[in-house]
Amino acid sequence: MSKRQQHRNAVEPYGSVRELQHYGTVVSVPIALDASVRGVSVENLNQVLVDTMTLRDLYKKHHWQVSGPTFYQLHLLFDKHFDEQSELVDGIAERIQSLGGVSIAMAHDVAEMTLIPRPPRGRDEVPIQIARLLQAHEIVLNEARAMARKAAEAGDDGTNDLLVSDVIRTNERQVWFVGEHLVDTPLIAQEHEPA
Ligand SMILES: [Fe+2]
Repeated sequence: MSKRQQHRNAVEPYGSVRELQHYGTVVSVPIALDASVRGVSVENLNQVLVDTMTLRDLYKKHHWQVSGPTFYQLHLLFDKHFDEQSELVDGIAERIQSLGGVSIAMAHDVAEMTLIPRPPRGRDEVPIQIARLLQAHEIVLNEARAMARKAAEAGDDGTNDLLVSDVIRTNERQVWFVGEHLVDTPLIAQEHEPA
């Protein structure tokens, strides 16, 4: 076993320390929402959270690894979207905490829970980068819409508002900006003179 594997498999050194709150539980919070409603919202928000963290990191991967004639433009756009996804991550995680839950935080847990397929470590061509991003956005939008409806039905308007106003609208706008790069138009249109 390599040193790295030994390190990874080592028992967490603070494992015997009592946790303040276990993951998957909700504590009492005086915001006039039943614990059962808050529990469902927390579970749903944690799923959107890990998928948003994955999408955020996919943007940084593509920001670093992009190449080709549109390098500079996409390098900047991908980083802008990374920043916006980072803001969403903070908003979702803090919503989970304000509902009395425990938010996922670490990459290990994100990797186990996310529904977004794992990309290769190597570099992709731009159309593949964009296809991966659009697929990830659609996964987030699909779940966010379903969860927003459930939150509204259960009376959790704050969660509904976060999902609709922030998560859904940001993702829809980013899909527009990224998707417009897929237009099937050559960068240089060459007119051929008749011989
Ligand atoms: Fe950078």
